[in-house]
Amino acid sequence: MPIIYDKKKRVFHLYNKDISYLIYISLDSRLIHLHFGAHLKDYDLDTMIYHTTNYYTHFDGEKEHISSLYDFNYETSLMELASFNKGDYRSCSIKIKNHNGDETTDFTYVSHKIYKGKQKLEGLPCLKASEDDVTTLEIKLIDKAINVVVILQYNILTNYPVITRSMKVINQAEDEIILKKAYSATLDLKTSDYNLYYLSGRYGKERNVCKEKIMQGCKVLSSIEGKSSHNTSPFIALASLDACEDYGEVYSCNFIYSGNFEIKVEVDKCEFTRVLVGINPETFEYVLEKNQSFQTPEVILLYTNKGIGEMSRIYHKVINNHLISSNFLNMKRPVLLNSWEGCYFDFDTDKILKIIDEAHQLGIEMFVLDDGWFAKRNDDNSSLGDWYVNNEKVDLNKVEKRLRQYNMKFGLWFEPEMISYNSSLYKNHKDYAIKCENRDYTLMRHQMVLDMSRQDVCDNIYKQMSDIIDKYHIDYIKWDHNRSITEAYSKHLDSKHMGEFYHRFMLGTYSILERLNNDYPSLFIESCCGGGGRYDAGMLYYSPQIWTSDETDAIERLSIQEGTSFCFPCSSMGSHVSANQRTSYKTKAYVALQGTFGYELDPLKLDDETKALIKKQIKTYHEFYDLTHYGDLYYLIRPSNNAHQASWMFVSQDKKRALFTYVVTLKNKSMLTYIKLKGLKENKYYYCKEKDKTYYGKFLMEVGLDLTFDYIYSYDSIMLSFIEK
Ligand code: GLA
Repeated sequence: MPIIYDKKKRVFHLYNKDISYLIYISLDSRLIHLHFGAHLKDYDLDTMIYHTTNYYTHFDGEKEHISSLYDFNYETSLMELASFNKGDYRSCSIKIKNHNGDETTDFTYVSHKIYKGKQKLEGLPCLKASEDDVTTLEIKLIDKAINVVVILQYNILTNYPVITRSMKVINQAEDEIILKKAYSATLDLKTSDYNLYYLSGRYGKERNVCKEKIMQGCKVLSSIEGKSSHNTSPFIALASLDACEDYGEVYSCNFIYSGNFEIKVEVDKCEFTRVLVGINPETFEYVLEKNQSFQTPEVILLYTNKGIGEMSRIYHKVINNHLISSNFLNMKRPVLLNSWEGCYFDFDTDKILKIIDEAHQLGIEMFVLDDGWFAKRNDDNSSLGDWYVNNEKVDLNKVEKRLRQYNMKFGLWFEPEMISYNSSLYKNHKDYAIKCENRDYTLMRHQMVLDMSRQDVCDNIYKQMSDIIDKYHIDYIKWDHNRSITEAYSKHLDSKHMGEFYHRFMLGTYSILERLNNDYPSLFIESCCGGGGRYDAGMLYYSPQIWTSDETDAIERLSIQEGTSFCFPCSSMGSHVSANQRTSYKTKAYVALQGTFGYELDPLKLDDETKALIKKQIKTYHEFYDLTHYGDLYYLIRPSNNAHQASWMFVSQDKKRALFTYVVTLKNKSMLTYIKLKGLKENKYYYCKEKDKTYYGKFLMEVGLDLTFDYIYSYDSIMLSFIEK
């Protein structure tokens, strides 16, 4: 078993060939974190326990008794679950308001369970794996003073340096308690010698890689928008100061949740680092009556000593193999044409049929009709919530028939969590929209948000969607979400439970996605959120692909896709070639080929030369599909490190094939352009078709590929393929 409990040492050891995670039960039953990092065959417990003076003693009113037996100290021990109000002055992992107002918590070990496999978290996205691929440790703790139990859930994957964590809180007391903070994971580290990597952005400029040294105090990355947001992502990495792309220690957290989250990185007076990951307590309060429980979402914790690049590659594999639905892992993604940038709201049956005819000629395999096909939706002022076809505008029977004639797939856009003021849904169910009593409500993009915390609202939307899916045999859905939540309030929650709203909203959204996944196992969902405003591991569980950004300019996409591929697989990045940009169609396609490839333009407006090029690009997509979707990604030049160029390559798992891309944004000052490749076999020869030249693997990696005389200047690019000889 990859989890053992050493009774004598009082230590849990979770391990696989790459990592070890050690937890110690102190002599007075607190859970101490000892180690997360490289695999340890053996360890010396004495040197790992932080020896402390007997400074903290307990006084029960009768006598002072020594309960911390030199192996535990609230203030300085590294904790698995940090209590509140007992002397640990760092941020706590759990905060509970007891019926008498006392918010103190102090959890001690009761028992544990170790078993093969992993349980699904009810109603929540989480990693899944067979009994051979994952082992679980559940540690039961109790705060005896308030009779509240916590189950800490740990899962270790067999084949990846990854542990997942979550927590269940159970109220065993007679009186209700209010859960005010319940982080999914606490990770204490002995030093603060780390650079923090995180992703920052805004609409149209999502997920820029940022890096800064952590210092005493707190760095908080969070969202209160009701979604994980454009502004930051529920992900961080802490890398040792000497770490770089290919070397050095990296700890990383990737939260499997799409709602309001908080990741707090705190360096205390001792230069210890505490990382807390979970639901954002700013917008969270959960009431637990007697015997009720609360399950937190799950966090992926990853460790590697092979640098930032390896962290990304591990995430790509773990997400593909253990998070997204296995129905889609091996499903080849069809090359799609999306109508949005080509037509916006301006189309009719005739135009759509002509577009489909042309798309078919080009080799497109799926047509996605974006916004504007339903109710009275001819601009963004109306109709969200009315998911019936606007038959006067577009005949979806004819559209479907034409697509089937060409053996093409049919995709349709929905924005299920929204409601327009001008809609029959709003006319008939005003209380379905989120708004506060006696207060103005805020419109964004002229729309309101549906109260997804309500079962009847979810049922209504699911029914409308499934009617359309059934009627037109829809193969693909683009699930959009175009505004943040304001005036959070539900008519169905009383004041005591109003703090549960945001989390219940998320559970409602997940419940519809789950129903769609179960009822239509081959229905492919690409989620979207005003571009990439909800790109997180939570959504990836239900929708294996996410629209990366509304920014489709190839040069802008370089940094957006770099940041996205930092912790999410390239196969999940919706990436389209669109019209009207500053770059050539060649560069647009080379950049789009990093993700899941498609077009977003009006093919009726293309000249013959561009059409011929597009046909070739689609062939290229098919030729290299297995590399871009299942290969290992290596960044050779990161746009976050270099303002002039970007370069990456995909290498097949057997290292026999590789696909190299280089894009120039500003002319290089250097007279020479040598780029060192990565991930190849050192002592094998590789043939480059485009250059009709054979290179030695080690030469390509140590000396580099010479592109000096390819004369690649601003906005130009080159793509080269390599095959082992
Ligand atoms: C959002 C999406 C776009 C498009 C429009 C339609 O902005 O990100 O891709 O679907 O909505 O209204």
